Amino acid sequence: MPMTHISTPPLPHAPQPAAPPRLHHGGRLREAARQYRIALDDWLDLSTGINPHGYPPPPVPAEAWLRLPEDDDGLERAAADHYGLAGPDAPCRLLPVAGSQAAIQTLSRLIPARQVCLFAPSYAEHAHAWRTSERHYCTSVADMEAALPQADVVVVVNPNNPCGRQLPAAQLLDWRHRLAHSGGWLIVDEAFADARPEHSLAPHAGLPGLVVLRSLGKFFGLAGARVGFVLGEPALLARLAALLGPWTLAGPARHVATAALRDTAWQARTRQQLATSSARLAELLTHRGLTPSGGTALFQWLRTAQADALHQHCARQGILLRHFDTPASLRFGLPPDERGWQRLATALDSWSTPPAPAPSSTARHLPASRPRT
Ligand SMILES: Cc1ncc(COP(=O)(O)O)c(C=O)c1O
Repeated sequence: MPMTHISTPPLPHAPQPAAPPRLHHGGRLREAARQYRIALDDWLDLSTGINPHGYPPPPVPAEAWLRLPEDDDGLERAAADHYGLAGPDAPCRLLPVAGSQAAIQTLSRLIPARQVCLFAPSYAEHAHAWRTSERHYCTSVADMEAALPQADVVVVVNPNNPCGRQLPAAQLLDWRHRLAHSGGWLIVDEAFADARPEHSLAPHAGLPGLVVLRSLGKFFGLAGARVGFVLGEPALLARLAALLGPWTLAGPARHVATAALRDTAWQARTRQQLATSSARLAELLTHRGLTPSGGTALFQWLRTAQADALHQHCARQGILLRHFDTPASLRFGLPPDERGWQRLATALDSWSTPPAPAPSSTARHLPASRPRT
């Protein structure tokens, strides 16, 4: 019998809005390997603020892969303890998310805001997430104080990435109080706070108008597991949970995160090691006339008009830094081992400040040997 073909008309659909551009971040080693023609394994990646000695992931039980993740497996309790949330309702003031980035780009859909105040420079994903609001950029605490009365939302990365500025908790609590008084919100991104938890606002989660974001991708070094937390009022978290849907964290990620959050001995050791390494990095740079303008336990930040040329100089030797255009600056992460420290020192020793950041002048800084392929 001949087959009858029924042709279905194409479904009518509305024109799709253009997707917003994606932002650039550190850690794009494959791209650098292609650009500088240096094999992937030969790179020293200092372009992120991720702990190079992250939490050693424990073996993952087969059920974590094979069963659907369950909410009451102990992760929320471990996180509440780690973040200093007291009381039996503590886990209701905290929501696990697939990296704090998942919350950064979703909160702007839940909180209506005409004006959003942010520091500049800072982690650019925040400004990007609030791109449909009027954004007001502040470069100092005084600027922010002046802008606060007009703000519906204030975003503070504390300590800030990349400049490392650390605002005292008392100051932020005061801003939260003033914002909440007029129905506004304070969002504090504490992605880099685990090394100095004494400044954290996490224990205050649940206060009206306060949202705190935490990440397991920096201090714990578990960037690939994609685990973060949003701490705040239960009503906001319930709306966020509804928007993100069920099972936002994979079972293996929940397993490793629970172990890391409970391991207080590892955390104490790591705080000391990071403080020592960060001071060593600041010293290494300062000793070569590259005094950092700021930093945290996980990175140092150098403002220099020669940022682009120095970035290229290091990249030609297989060392990837994070380069920022505005302001011209570089962020240096922590080398993972003695060989890495030595490579960085050698690369910086062979750097001499060019007279001007013109492209032609950078040619003089080509290393004697040709780039490895
Ligand atoms: C300040 C800051 N917040 C949040 C994030 C997102 O981290 P994650 O999604 O891995 O938790 C980053 C990543 O670089 C960051 O630098």
